Amino acid sequence: METLFGSYPTTRMRRNRRFEWSRRMVRENNLDPNDLILPLFIKDETHGSEFIETMPGVRRYSIDELSKIIKETKSLGIPAVALFPVINPKLKTPDAEEAWNPDNLLCQAIRRIKETHADIGIICDVALDPFNSDGHDGLVQNGHVENDTTLDALCRQALVQAQAGCDIIAPSDMMDGRIGKIRKFLDTHDYQKVMIMSYAAKFSSSFYGPFRDAIDSSGFLAGETKDTYQIDPSNSDEALREVALDINEGADMVMIKPGLPYLDIIWRVKEKFGLPTFAYNVSGEYSMIRFAAEAGAVDLNKVMLETLISFKRAGCNGVLTYFAIDAARHLNS
Ligand code: PBG
Repeated sequence: METLFGSYPTTRMRRNRRFEWSRRMVRENNLDPNDLILPLFIKDETHGSEFIETMPGVRRYSIDELSKIIKETKSLGIPAVALFPVINPKLKTPDAEEAWNPDNLLCQAIRRIKETHADIGIICDVALDPFNSDGHDGLVQNGHVENDTTLDALCRQALVQAQAGCDIIAPSDMMDGRIGKIRKFLDTHDYQKVMIMSYAAKFSSSFYGPFRDAIDSSGFLAGETKDTYQIDPSNSDEALREVALDINEGADMVMIKPGLPYLDIIWRVKEKFGLPTFAYNVSGEYSMIRFAAEAGAVDLNKVMLETLISFKRAGCNGVLTYFAIDAARHLNS
């Protein structure tokens, strides 16, 4: 068709986009089940209902139900799961001792998974919040979350997890110096081979709301808020300092959390340090999409996949996401 300018423009970005196959051919990033890590909530028989109201489609599993979901996770090609226990309120205390009971719910779950499915990775949070009646990640003394006494508790917690068979210890507590202490403690107990994935850049975020419902840790938070240990969402250089410290203390891989509002941090961390970098696409990010889809505002599958590829584009090696099963099913189909 005749136009005012003849053949113009010369560079046509749309040429490569013309066909489905050519779009695939020039694609810079691909999502694969290997990129996904599934977080799983574990409940005991007596406590906690199956469904989580603020996280549509996400369940709490009893230990007996685990085998089935782990089998499916594995068969979809997802390399690892991250376990979160929902602790009976009767077992929560201000000193969080249940966290290092070698027979606690989490350790039982790890053992059960390892007995039946040795070849799927198990990642465990190290933080006291599921076990602490104050709801904090550390020990509260005189209304203040104490750093140094918490480190001892975290080391004990990490050790029982390693002894139960956890492959990757993932400290999410944000106490100073915890990676170095935990690494040393594991090494002196002959767990040199256990990996550490540090929640290195964990922001003080309101996107954790549904997770706190899921593990029943919201509402307490005695004394100060988590702002005194998690990073201020306004800061970026500070996140890089946190990551540098954790690498120096022995982290094998690092995590940025939440994910979507912090893609810039993921990019900076990967550019600067180049080590295995993960994002946690947290509960609030998941629920936003689920509720928007339920309201008919967006297409669930498409928005899910677009969200997950953004983590790859930003430089992630993988992403913890409650969408892991749905996304892997879609990618395998
Ligand atoms: C606890 C922990 C939190 C999450 C993972 N580990 C919540 C918090 O710090 O209060 C949040 C995960 C999510 O929102 O999906 N240390």
